[in-house]
Amino acid sequence: MERMEDILDLLKARRSVRHYQRKEVSREVIERLIEAARWSPSGANIQPWHFVVVTREDLRREVGDEAKFFFVKSRHVSEAPLLIVVCGDTKSSFHVVDCSLAGANIIMEATSLGLGTCWIGAFHEDRIKEILGIPEGMKVVGIITVGYPAETPPPPPKLELLEILHWEVFRDTGRSFRSRVLRSGPLSVLPRILKMIFRMR
Ligand SMILES: Cc1cc2nc3c(=O)[nH]c(=O)nc-3n(C[C@H](O)[C@H](O)[C@H](O)COP(=O)(O)O)c2cc1C
Repeated sequence: MERMEDILDLLKARRSVRHYQRKEVSREVIERLIEAARWSPSGANIQPWHFVVVTREDLRREVGDEAKFFFVKSRHVSEAPLLIVVCGDTKSSFHVVDCSLAGANIIMEATSLGLGTCWIGAFHEDRIKEILGIPEGMKVVGIITVGYPAETPPPPPKLELLEILHWEVFRDTGRSFRSRVLRSGPLSVLPRILKMIFRMR
């Protein structure tokens, strides 16, 4: 296979974007994003995915109201002009992995087209299913917010290679789960959470 453009640059340039321009995403672009998902690998090639494309303002608002972690709402869910709700058929035991990989394809294709995205994992699944008519037997694996960015977030902290790379056998890299959570996890997003709470008042 010929070497294509270095995708690593694109992977490094991607950020979770939480503010969007009001500009619509065209149908052609949306179909391109789903086309990217279509070519994703899947266990036994079962392709247990469905993608609900939500552009209607009333639906986006309803879905946005249900996208929260305890009382902290991900406001960008209502703000984004496009939501892609990634659903997995639970009959496949690989549906979560397959849909996550397909979601990554969508996110990277969107990045290459100059769009911003954010994977949303905190939501009330039952309510989202009700709002969008998603049937029994489907799991909402994630929601991807998509839109033209209205912000350029700085790079978030990422672990160094030597903290995560194990040559041949697993060794202690000195990075426990606890230290990861403290350094790059929820505490690093505390300022954003405080800002959200402040804006809620
Ligand atoms: C499984 C998963 C769940 C996530 N859930 C949310 C969410 O509910 N709300 C949100 O604003 N961001 C969410 N994110 C985005 C992460 O906060 C973000 O990826 C992380 O802070 C690293 O930043 P980066 O994506 O710019 O590299 C989620 C990401 C993943 C992979």
